[in-house]
Amino acid sequence: MKVFISRQIPNLGLKLLENAGIEYDLYPSDYAIPRTDFIASLKSNNYHAIISTLSDKIDAELLDIAGKQVKIVANFAVGYANIDIDECSKRGIAVSNTPDVLSAATADMAFTLLLATARRLIEGHELIQNDAWQGWTPTQLLGQDLKQKTLGIIGMGRIGEEMAKRALGFNMKVVYHNRKPKPQTEAELKVKYLNLNELLSESDFVSLHCPLSPATKHLIGKKEFELMKNTAIIINTARGAVINEQELVAALKQGQIWAAGLDVFEFEPKITEELKHIPNVVLAPHLGSATQGTRDAMIELAVESIIAVLSNKTTANILNKEVF
Ligand code: DGY
Repeated sequence: MKVFISRQIPNLGLKLLENAGIEYDLYPSDYAIPRTDFIASLKSNNYHAIISTLSDKIDAELLDIAGKQVKIVANFAVGYANIDIDECSKRGIAVSNTPDVLSAATADMAFTLLLATARRLIEGHELIQNDAWQGWTPTQLLGQDLKQKTLGIIGMGRIGEEMAKRALGFNMKVVYHNRKPKPQTEAELKVKYLNLNELLSESDFVSLHCPLSPATKHLIGKKEFELMKNTAIIINTARGAVINEQELVAALKQGQIWAAGLDVFEFEPKITEELKHIPNVVLAPHLGSATQGTRDAMIELAVESIIAVLSNKTTANILNKEVF
């Protein structure tokens, strides 16, 4: 059995494959494999499994080239908007992702962005770096309090729940919007369900934790920014295209919202130029799950799924259970 790995992954993943007696070929780059190289690599029809990452488009064309022997595509990410699951299912190919293991790290990053924007940390850092700080003043870089403020969570999955717990620890109120209300989460965490418009107009902070899908693409655009408070801060650690980035720039420039903390971008890794020059925007290069422990746990889960599927077994993180 042989796996194609579309770019460098944590060493642990390679060790686990070797221990399981599974061969692999690895595209030798830290960055996304160009489509042409991906297609050329899969043409040999040599691979029974593919480890893909969030930027690899797994579609009908690629699957046809990869061949009928492919049994699983293991995405090294919890998000899987890059994979055409229906096309995989039609061919009997299982698709797995890496849920749970990155929820805490991603919520940590969302909360880091929330604090950094609320307290204008990067502006302060730059003031010092540029030798422009002349000392403490009563009115310098005044930010926003967290206590008793409302955090609106859009997408109350595992990462959304972790975010809610962090906010509650900071004495914030938490409201949420989700495809379906979650009464158990409401009882456990004391959070309140609101429709999207209510959430946007009531929240002081809005944090996105929903997957990207046709239904959530540009979920936040002109109309939604108009509903938000002028003092509101938006945080995105989900997928860039959930926000219409041009409209975000306009909302920030017009003072319709106060700040944005972004870990993901609509045209990643290309960043809408203006975002780099708006002072109350904190930008991170898609670091949500970027801790050694979390990335190791993610690759462990991906390899476990491959080992299971290649032994004709299923696992909890197979997204298209109908293939078994
Ligand atoms: C994911 O897993 O979907 C993140 O965006 C990358 O870790």
